Amino acid sequence: MKIKKAIIPVAGKGTRFLPVTKSIPKEMIPILDTPMIHYVVNEAIESGIEEIIFVVSEEKESLLNYFSTNAKLEKFLEEKKKFELLKKIHKISNSARFVSVEQKEQLGLGHAVLQAEDLIDDNEPFAVILGDDLIFGETPTTKQLMDISESLGRAPVIGVMEVPREDVKKYGIVKGTPVEGSATTFKMEAMVEKPSPQDAPSNLATPGRYILNKQIFELLKSIPRGSGGEYQLTDAINEMAKQRNVYAHIFDGRRIDTGQPLGYLEATVRAALDNSKLRESFISIIRKEFKKDEINL
Ligand code: G1P
Repeated sequence: MKIKKAIIPVAGKGTRFLPVTKSIPKEMIPILDTPMIHYVVNEAIESGIEEIIFVVSEEKESLLNYFSTNAKLEKFLEEKKKFELLKKIHKISNSARFVSVEQKEQLGLGHAVLQAEDLIDDNEPFAVILGDDLIFGETPTTKQLMDISESLGRAPVIGVMEVPREDVKKYGIVKGTPVEGSATTFKMEAMVEKPSPQDAPSNLATPGRYILNKQIFELLKSIPRGSGGEYQLTDAINEMAKQRNVYAHIFDGRRIDTGQPLGYLEATVRAALDNSKLRESFISIIRKEFKKDEINL
């Protein structure tokens, strides 16, 4: 069955980006002229997703507005004959179906995903994509996981990357054994949320890319609160791995942690260098500023 839906939880408070997140959802902070959430949505669409389910908290109206049609703006651009911009704006709201469910209490990622249960059909596999990490590469990460899932009998697959040992405490960590003939796909034995470096079963961390199925919802209802006193998606996946084959796959791509200011800056620099209109002027600015501060690279 083709995977058509992606759940994207966007209910977090964004405290690492205060004060701007006092009035703007962190997902709407732009990298150049494009909100971070748009990159995540693009990953889904380029992977073949047709319906995006946002799990939102009440302050996320501007995010939902961004993905809805803005008839007034479209009319204005048409009258001004700004057809390129019109095309760009029109595409945002028409490239997928956007729906939302509200998470009324902030009880963790597992609880957020559970809110989308009624929007997923029986036996329907789906993707979960978290927005704090942007991953750049040739094939979208979610598509890579879909392909692995398909090749392994449509099993659940979690996207992972190797992280330095001291960083395992920030992530869901997978314990697995390599699948025969592969150095990048593992059969999961367990998954642990934010272990200490001493207790971590490996350094394979998920930046929040998952292919799951409806079974996860029953497990999400049965798990107790876990790390941080929250209902953790990781704990439900760990239970699932006891009942059926679940896999982890090291994806190809460069991942930038835009959930924190330095990663955000890194992504901005990358975007400026990738933008043909800005690239040369941006390099001159950086050269000038470095010279002023006597920084030699
Ligand atoms: C969440 C998940 C964690 C995952 C991480 C990726 O944690 O619970 O398993 O590795 O996202 O960003 P959070 O960063 O929301 O605390």
